[in-house]
Amino acid sequence: MSMTCHNLDFGTRVLDLVAVGSSSNASIERHSVKNHGKGFTSKVYGARRMACCRQNISRTRAFSTNTSEALLDGVGERTEPVLDLKKEVKSPISLANLFEVVADDLQTLNQNLRSIVGAENPVLMSAAEQIFGAGGKRIRPALVFLVSRATAELAGLKDLTTKHRRLAEIIEMIHTASLIHDDVLDESDMRRGKETVHQLYGTRVAVLAGDFMFAQSSWYLANLENIEVIKLISQVIKDFASGEIKQASSLFDCDVELEEYLLKSFYKTASLIAASTKGAAIFSGADRSITEQMYEFGKNLGLAFQVVDDILDFTQSAEQLGKPAGSDLAKGNLTAPVIFALEKEPKLREIIESEFCDTGSLDEAIELVKQCGGIERAQELAKEKADLAIKSLQCLPPSNFRLALQDMVMFNLERID
Ligand code: IPE
Ligand code: IPE
Ligand code: MG
Ligand code: MG
Repeated sequence: MSMTCHNLDFGTRVLDLVAVGSSSNASIERHSVKNHGKGFTSKVYGARRMACCRQNISRTRAFSTNTSEALLDGVGERTEPVLDLKKEVKSPISLANLFEVVADDLQTLNQNLRSIVGAENPVLMSAAEQIFGAGGKRIRPALVFLVSRATAELAGLKDLTTKHRRLAEIIEMIHTASLIHDDVLDESDMRRGKETVHQLYGTRVAVLAGDFMFAQSSWYLANLENIEVIKLISQVIKDFASGEIKQASSLFDCDVELEEYLLKSFYKTASLIAASTKGAAIFSGADRSITEQMYEFGKNLGLAFQVVDDILDFTQSAEQLGKPAGSDLAKGNLTAPVIFALEKEPKLREIIESEFCDTGSLDEAIELVKQCGGIERAQELAKEKADLAIKSLQCLPPSNFRLALQDMVMFNLERID
């Protein structure tokens, strides 16, 4: 038998029925145990059976059980553990690990990205090179590949099609264009640890470079010749503008409600992620019920992703983020932690409405947001959305790709642990 914190591999001949699960109290982890429980492998070897599941958890226990359902009913309630790894340190999920199953796809994507920008204009080429070359996590194309592969089997596809791959390239290009424009609007000088396009080439080039990338991606999109996907992604480009306009028109507005914040976050972030996951399933020829679930998955993951990004703006440094930190509140962009803190602390409203005109008032406001539990409540909101995202994955057949999609949700939450 061999074992690590993330995976437990059991030899097939030596154990009777074995169940593996998490003993964590965190709701999301309990939830994921249930998911695994439903989809976990249970094999029969003569009179002996083996059941196991894969988890990313802090405490892993293995039990000898009479029935595999024991895992679902609560690990260890009726049996003594045969193995208890309580002392095992939680190992964080790394992107490299969870992207491993689509690593080759991502490598091909990185090679193609630069070539699809086109070589017509040297200034736009260098601007594109600046931001594509700076890296980025490539979360959206990875989601396209993972959903494509997780759903391809349903449609009897053996490999990804060129349409799946082109979709991933288009999505990353649209995302990059939106970042170039977002940095102009936010007046940010750093992105992905490097200077932003507008910092280096000026606002005019940055606006044109973003426009050019949106236009180029629309052209490639039309060439995919799938009207459903064309409609889906055109809507996303419109949503970006709606999101940025919504944000710009509510700066320093302390009456902004959570629902409005979530709508803005949908426009700015979740819409593209939802279109990525749904578009991938459409190109696999999946049923409407599956494509809709994939949309829900992407939407809720996207919302959780934006809430986490907004928390990190309060809790991490510019070096950790590769982009300016603490700037949302400074610029009057009131995100989830502030909206929650405003419910508890009237003084915060006063400081924000004065637009931080007094020296030290920004630091005081940040401190108040933290003291009033704004960060913790935003964390709960992110978990809520993450839970919904995980539920939508249940329609997929069990596979390493589905597990990686689930890990992606967990990875996002772990960024704020
Ligand atoms: C940044 O997205 C913009 C948000 C939606 C918060 P990412 O965090 O995915 O940015 P890159 O692509 O890794 O730089
Ligand atoms: C997401 O919002 C940006 C886009 C979708 C363009 P943010 O404004 O929070 O993104 P960052 O923090 O600048 O990356
Ligand atoms: Mg921004
Ligand atoms: Mg942000």
